[in-house]
Amino acid sequence: MSDIAVNIKNLTKRYKDGPLALDDVDLEIKKGEFFALLGPNGAGKSTMINIMSGLVKKTHGDVEIFGTNQEDDPTKIKFDIGVVPQEISFDPFLTVQQTLEFQSGYYGIRDNKEYIEEVLVNLNLIDKKDAGTRQLSGGMKRRLLIAKALIHKPKLLILDEPTAGVDVELRHTLWTYVRKLNEAGLTILLTTHYLEEAEALCKRLAIVDKGKIKAVGKTKSLIEEYSGKKTISLNLKEKLKEVPSELNKYETQILENGSILEITLDPSNTEHVFKAVGATSLDVTNFSVAEQSLEDVFLKLTYEQHEK
Ligand SMILES: Nc1ncnc2c1ncn2[C@@H]1O[C@H](COP(=O)(O)OP(=O)(O)O)[C@@H](O)[C@H]1O
Ligand SMILES: [Mg+2]
Repeated sequence: MSDIAVNIKNLTKRYKDGPLALDDVDLEIKKGEFFALLGPNGAGKSTMINIMSGLVKKTHGDVEIFGTNQEDDPTKIKFDIGVVPQEISFDPFLTVQQTLEFQSGYYGIRDNKEYIEEVLVNLNLIDKKDAGTRQLSGGMKRRLLIAKALIHKPKLLILDEPTAGVDVELRHTLWTYVRKLNEAGLTILLTTHYLEEAEALCKRLAIVDKGKIKAVGKTKSLIEEYSGKKTISLNLKEKLKEVPSELNKYETQILENGSILEITLDPSNTEHVFKAVGATSLDVTNFSVAEQSLEDVFLKLTYEQHEK
């Protein structure tokens, strides 16, 4: 048995009369992973997962879920995947319990009262089982959506922006719960535009923007690789027209009409950079240092690509 849960190759989507939402995407997610697609609004995250679940038709490319090609057996994939959609929508005339019974029926599952109860207990919704869905708070609705997605015991849980617009406390409750699910062996794919969320939950992530994957790897190494950098801003006495040749090999930027020179460097390079600055004729009146956050990394990665 292969250890691959999701295998996407050359996936492209162009909406009718619309944008190129996915542009030749390759992605591999292993069984048991908690993986994030991190990207701004409009990046193509929902498109990607909606193609996986069969809700949206791809333009071309290949999607394999647990070894089955989406085109060959969409029904098997429907059973393998549970999706928690971005938008909350329930039948307002059903109770919590009925919502889950209905959802079970949709998968041809009967007599699963015990499992429904177990899910409701785990999601702290058992007290609300006879409440109408209209009576639920926003947080309860989110949890009911997760319960719905789990009702047929999928092998892959997909969470589309699970905490967009959710308050901090509920966000942390949801995180705790999905972490438990993952620890119990469930493969989870999360889409989010919150760096903090991807960082808190996922060991690996892909950064997506404008339908392309900009970077993919271990969350920790991506952070280390990109956010270890520092930016030193030098305030100059004389306005600078061009970067002195001694600094050519560093990442520099002239700002404020030449009165500030910014140098972005690896901390291990600090000594060399200062020596190089010393070798120039720059008259530095003041300086400041800024460390890069993952937010900066993200902006930089997505911005650079737009420039190309
Ligand atoms: N049904 C649709 N018809 C036309 N364009 C769409 C449709 N759904 C999404 N798009 C466009 O495709 C791009 C990617 O959208 P989406 O996958 O929703 O991004 P994300 O989930 O990352 O915010 C956006 O430009 C969006 O406007
Ligand atoms: Mg989306």
